Amino acid sequence: MKLPFAESFKIKMVEPIRRSTREEREEWIKNANYNLFNLRSNQVFVDLLTDSGTGAMSDRQWSEMMLGDESYAGASSYYKLKNAIKHITGFDYFLPTHQGRAAENVLFSALIKEGDIVPGNSHFDTTKAHIEFRKSQAVDCTIDEAFDTELDYPFKGNIDVNKLEKVLSNNPKEKIPLIIVTVTCNTSGGQPVSMKNMKEVSAVARKYGIPVYYDSARFAENAYFIKMREEGYGNTSIRDIVKEMFSYADGMTMSSKKDAIVNMGGFIGFRHKEVFDKASVYNILFEGFNTYGGMSGRDMNALAQGLYDGTEFDHLESRIGQVAFLGQMLRDKGIPVQYPFGGHAIFVDAKRFLPNIPKEEYVAQTLAVELYIEGGVRGVEIGSIMADRDPVTGQNRYPDLELMRLAIPRRTYTNDHMRYVAAAIINVFERRDKITKGLKIVKEAPILRHFTVELEKV
Ligand code: F0G
Repeated sequence: MKLPFAESFKIKMVEPIRRSTREEREEWIKNANYNLFNLRSNQVFVDLLTDSGTGAMSDRQWSEMMLGDESYAGASSYYKLKNAIKHITGFDYFLPTHQGRAAENVLFSALIKEGDIVPGNSHFDTTKAHIEFRKSQAVDCTIDEAFDTELDYPFKGNIDVNKLEKVLSNNPKEKIPLIIVTVTCNTSGGQPVSMKNMKEVSAVARKYGIPVYYDSARFAENAYFIKMREEGYGNTSIRDIVKEMFSYADGMTMSSKKDAIVNMGGFIGFRHKEVFDKASVYNILFEGFNTYGGMSGRDMNALAQGLYDGTEFDHLESRIGQVAFLGQMLRDKGIPVQYPFGGHAIFVDAKRFLPNIPKEEYVAQTLAVELYIEGGVRGVEIGSIMADRDPVTGQNRYPDLELMRLAIPRRTYTNDHMRYVAAAIINVFERRDKITKGLKIVKEAPILRHFTVELEKV
């Protein structure tokens, strides 16, 4: 018998979580204005809101916390992190930031000006918001295959090189400060970008003289998929794949809260000193002096170790295996989910799950609320609420996909939790015909509205 994968860790410390009753949850979610971000964590049983900053650190990371050097300038923790970043990614220069969007803020302050165009593969919401905040435009060049949730395609995060080349050839070079490749592509379902695609993007970018930056929050999961799915990489180590991936980029932004398994942190990696120097000014302004940025010494230490933990094959195999375990239980019941399964989350296709809800009534949010009421499981809407209004027309934007994302924190929940989550979703699926009314917005912010939006039942 082939031995199945099993978790590459054992558990040394536990945190109690509590189940609640349906009546309690109905009350709580109403008081939260049907916005799952407004729930208290103790009102949630299994929290799949995000895999960001919610992972369990290893004993090695915790021991590194004790060795943190909190010197304002030149801390040994800074050099430890610098060495780890160089070793894992190959980038010579880096700036520590407090999280991924801070890295975006600093980098974009140095590179993007009003009226610019930033092509990429379904930019993440904070990335897009930081672009639009600068009165620039994020242009989505993701391959069309990504938008068919049933299509079995191994690299649904890929950039359509023809779409990209059209943008590059139709606009003056001065208006395109960078191309952003998100690995894995969160918005299209945690889907990987192939090495071949990275090479092609790099070649086109070079032809037009435009730098390429990777939004790298889940770079190690991307490398795992390349190893498992792309011809020629089956025998290459994760770390060698990672090195090759980044060799096609001019730099990276990193939310360390994902694949580096820390609760807070981020950084920017640079190949070129000129850009590093330019961005340093903004880093000092927004984040802190260059040898700590937005991080304390102990957090830089934990992050340095996390870069090693997160790029171990055994970790990635059990982590991505757990995501697939949940996905397969749902697929076996005919529940429409993005397939192949992504690296960090299962994305339920809400339009196909709840065909009776019109798009104006926020289908994925409606589903996420139903799932919470059913089992105290918190997912998140990746759909028209998150898509915000068009900054020019003020109209709601309705993306092709309305998804409910179930993001799995790293090393945090067991497969029994996954069984529980699957059962709750299956229960909602079995009563889906009775769900005929969605939600309406009663209050919203002008940008990133999903965090604070207030809703009512229609
Ligand atoms: N880029 C990607 C691809 C992300 O998924 C995120 C965060 C960021 C950038 C921003 O990083 O949160 O550290 O400021 N994604 C989280 C999520 C919030 O739930 O997917 P951050």
